[in-house]
Amino acid sequence: MKPDIILISGRANLPLAEEISAIAEIPLCNVELFKFSNDESFVKINDNVRGADVFIIQPTCRPVNDNLIELLIIIDALRRASARRINCVIPYFAYARSDKKDQPRVPITAKLTADLLSTAGADRVVTVDLHAEQIQGFFNIPVDHLYAIPGFARHFLTMDLDNPVVVSPDSGGANRARALAKRLDCGLAIGDKRRVGNIDKTILLNIIGDVKNKTAILYDDIIDTGGSLIRIAGVLMEHGVKKVYAACTHGVLSCSAVQNLEASPIEQLFITNTIPLSPQAAACKKITQLSIATMLAKAITNIHQEESLSVLFE
Ligand code: R5P
Repeated sequence: MKPDIILISGRANLPLAEEISAIAEIPLCNVELFKFSNDESFVKINDNVRGADVFIIQPTCRPVNDNLIELLIIIDALRRASARRINCVIPYFAYARSDKKDQPRVPITAKLTADLLSTAGADRVVTVDLHAEQIQGFFNIPVDHLYAIPGFARHFLTMDLDNPVVVSPDSGGANRARALAKRLDCGLAIGDKRRVGNIDKTILLNIIGDVKNKTAILYDDIIDTGGSLIRIAGVLMEHGVKKVYAACTHGVLSCSAVQNLEASPIEQLFITNTIPLSPQAAACKKITQLSIATMLAKAITNIHQEESLSVLFE
């Protein structure tokens, strides 16, 4: 009998898709994905998807634009092949930081991406830790927004840290950091991070809150160049913290992030597997990846069975 639920992976994060497939016990659909010599992407779905509830797993990580286009053309192929519902599981949603017109003549690329997904034919988006919750409102289709916090909290509780305090690198991440602090039953501090210019430069001026003699857990949605976290880790040491750990949902780790992390006072960086690790990051002893495959597998099966996702927030 033809399966009613189908899982498809693009090429952005095949190991994550395979893990989800194994946990959910749903095989990955047979798809051909490649680029022609002229750099155009091609997709062909080799299984019958007519009338099926299809879940595409494709974070829009590097190469961002290739992975985004690949996702859009998979959606288009599914729509033209009469899939009943097209659910896009985008664990890392690129361009999320382009979510407002905060300078003259700049785009809101997160909104444009949302429009592209809907125009292609997406019926739903499932994502993890959007840079800003409000991005959900850029879509006119349902968005199931999941959080890595429960997994990080469970992990930090097993570490039994001495006198922990959760630190948000900036005021924008305060709610996220507060949610982790609540689960760890500890205090919260906030960095006064100011960004200078558009190209990955940050300057940190101060820490608001009591961190002296504590074990700091820096918590952010994204580590990209690592500039924000590494700079604040140094400032925390100057403020008398005993140890600094860091946790970020999305390990973008661009430029010299891994090298700079190695040389930083951060003891250990915990990230999830929304984005696959580069060989350099995989070899770095300071990086530990925690899998979110179980959470995504549960989300997919619950959505398919029209059940609530609240259990994933516990
Ligand atoms: C910004 O507001 C984000 O939450 C991250 O703090 C930031 O994007 C991380 O970038 P980087 O690692 O390059 O400092």
